Amino acid sequence: MEKVVLITGVSKGLGKALALKFKKEGFKVCGVSRSEPDFEIDKHIKADLLKKEYTGFIFEEFSKSFERLDVLINNAGIGLYESWENIKEEDLRKLFELNFFSYVFLTQKFLNLLKETKGSIINVSSVAGKLYVPYMGAYCSSKFALNAFSDSLRAEVKPYGIHVLNLIVGRINTGFSKRALGSMKPPETPFGGNPEKFAEAVYKAYLKKKREITYPYWYKFFILLANLFPDLYDSISLKKWKKYT
Ligand SMILES: NC(=O)c1ccc[n+]([C@@H]2O[C@H](COP(=O)([O-])OP(=O)(O)OC[C@H]3O[C@@H](n4cnc5c(N)ncnc54)[C@H](OP(=O)(O)O)[C@@H]3O)[C@@H](O)[C@H]2O)c1
Repeated sequence: MEKVVLITGVSKGLGKALALKFKKEGFKVCGVSRSEPDFEIDKHIKADLLKKEYTGFIFEEFSKSFERLDVLINNAGIGLYESWENIKEEDLRKLFELNFFSYVFLTQKFLNLLKETKGSIINVSSVAGKLYVPYMGAYCSSKFALNAFSDSLRAEVKPYGIHVLNLIVGRINTGFSKRALGSMKPPETPFGGNPEKFAEAVYKAYLKKKREITYPYWYKFFILLANLFPDLYDSISLKKWKKYT
């Protein structure tokens, strides 16, 4: 029987790259997003993950077409670039609703199906969940919370044979920053990973049942250095935002 993957944020960026990779590997792909994907997918569920009723609706729609779930990829997310001084409550709540609560409640809803297949949960987190960045503190907080969710969940679902892979993602060229909330524009970076290579790395990590991977890999050393020399990191990272300070 063909394996089934459910991916949130499937219409573009990393979700799209993951959908194409899992399809290529023989999976049936079901995806969630507000806009229609511009590529072929076995089932698309149009849903806004910011709305409370979404989990039940997604589960019902999924169950109309599939009897099993092998992999749940919680991926949909948004950025927020703003100082703590000026952050709007509405934006902060939206950020946590999408980047944290949607991951938790979809996981809860699909856990019984994943128990039956001894499946996998893949959470798309960020380098910003390991390393604070000034003016991105809210986004970092949502991803720090997500890492704690992934790690504690991994221990809790291990007895059911379910595997949890947490992805520590660095900058990848998807246009993510342009769609972010907040009034500030992030500093440009010459580096940026490739979504297709990211999807290859995730699939490999999924097959090897890894706990966590960092992609692009060199961010691991960056995180280590920044944690070793926090004062130096503070001043370098603040300089990047100098037009706002
Ligand atoms: N790209 C990076 O550099 C980077 C780095 C670190 C971590 N990440 C993480 O990777 C994940 C994906 O990022 P990306 O770069 O692929 O972003 P993206 O290109 O902006 O794609 C975001 C996806 O989420 C969906 N989405 C957004 N709001 C939604 C909502 N309210 N309800 C349902 N779906 C919604 C979007 O679809 P619709 O607009 O059609 O709804 C889209 O498919 C995020 O969790 C992000 O935090 C990205």
